[in-house]
Amino acid sequence: MFLNRRKLFMMSSAAVAGMLPTYKAWAKLAMDLEPRGTEGRNERLPTLDLESQQHFFTEFRVWINRDMVRAAEQRSFQVLKEAGIDPNGELPKEQVINMFTTDPIMTMHTTAWERSQVQMWASVRDAYHAEKDRYLEEMEKAEKAGPGTLEMSMGDNIPEYTKHEIHLQPGGYVGDPFAGVIYLHGQNVVFNGGNYQDNAQLKYAAAIPLPKGGQVKRIHEPGCSIGQLSQALKERFPEAEVWGTDVGAPMIRYAHMRSVDMGVDVNYRQVLAEDNKFPDGHFDMVVDNLLQHELTREAILAMYKENFRTLRPGGVYYPIDLHTGSPKPRTAFQKFQAWRDHRWNHEIWRYEYESVDKAAELRKIGFEVIEKGPPARVGSGYNIVAYKPA
Ligand SMILES: C[S@@+](CC[C@H](N)C(=O)[O-])C[C@H]1O[C@@H](n2cnc3c(N)ncnc32)[C@H](O)[C@@H]1O
Repeated sequence: MFLNRRKLFMMSSAAVAGMLPTYKAWAKLAMDLEPRGTEGRNERLPTLDLESQQHFFTEFRVWINRDMVRAAEQRSFQVLKEAGIDPNGELPKEQVINMFTTDPIMTMHTTAWERSQVQMWASVRDAYHAEKDRYLEEMEKAEKAGPGTLEMSMGDNIPEYTKHEIHLQPGGYVGDPFAGVIYLHGQNVVFNGGNYQDNAQLKYAAAIPLPKGGQVKRIHEPGCSIGQLSQALKERFPEAEVWGTDVGAPMIRYAHMRSVDMGVDVNYRQVLAEDNKFPDGHFDMVVDNLLQHELTREAILAMYKENFRTLRPGGVYYPIDLHTGSPKPRTAFQKFQAWRDHRWNHEIWRYEYESVDKAAELRKIGFEVIEKGPPARVGSGYNIVAYKPA
């Protein structure tokens, strides 16, 4: 076919016009925090290389948590046996720490686990900081978009105890502008790759018992992080007004952006769980997940009071955490794992959390407590359910 310059020009114009929708879609994605599109409920990591690294960290962690932990446990039995101690007996925490920290096999387990976690967080953080301006601009744009609202008003009034780099996340929940998206990808590795589609939160939302009378008009999730549970609650109760609150502005900023992207109508507010600013009797349901073990004892007890105050008569409080449905660590090895979590995973407040007798404290405030309510977490058997008397 003979092509003159005019025909050639018309053909190339048509080709560009045909490609325009694709280009526009690409341009939209390129402005997104993860320009490689979405996978189910979440946007993918910004580069294939980073995604491969995260897969490596996940598989390494699965190996550590499955095979290596068994080797460490076997070794702990051996160490105790050599010392003539019953491995299932009650040993003081200090004795457990002294006996196990110098053992090379147990130390190797702790070190491999801790070092890989540090590197995992750093690789995600570095990727978002490398494109800082572009990502910050995008987050700013999303602030005014709906559905749902975003309120961030605490400024510098952030209590010191919330500033720790819990589970080694660099900058923690309040000190890095990208804490939300870093948490999204990191928590999936921490959960051995099993939570990328909010798997746990969807299951928990389904498990929560109804309040007395069955009516669910307003729900509150204190310590909502990036809104995975708040969104799952909105999906279970589409007619309800759902509020996710958190001390971390970067967390709820990302939570809001994620809810906007998914078209899920959740409201986010930056407040402390122990001083949430909502009116008395406002909520039918209050749920928290993995918040309490990151609070001081004082804050936990203050939050219980706040939850009681803001629930309507007959309202339900469902706390989900490490031992709201399972016994505290008992064997020497379990105690060592708990200490490792506190010391090396920077779970600073873990022992304060364990010092709280949840059912007794909730009763003192006035809740009617069912200690063996329906379970949320796998393997926990049961979960505390607390009702404000009707
Ligand atoms: C492990 S995350 C919670 C996960 C989340 N609930 C979920 O289901 O995915 C703990 C969250 O609690 C928040 N937090 C810690 N102390 C707080 C406080 N005193 N008040 C409100 N939020 C707090 C942290 O900023 C963090 O986002």
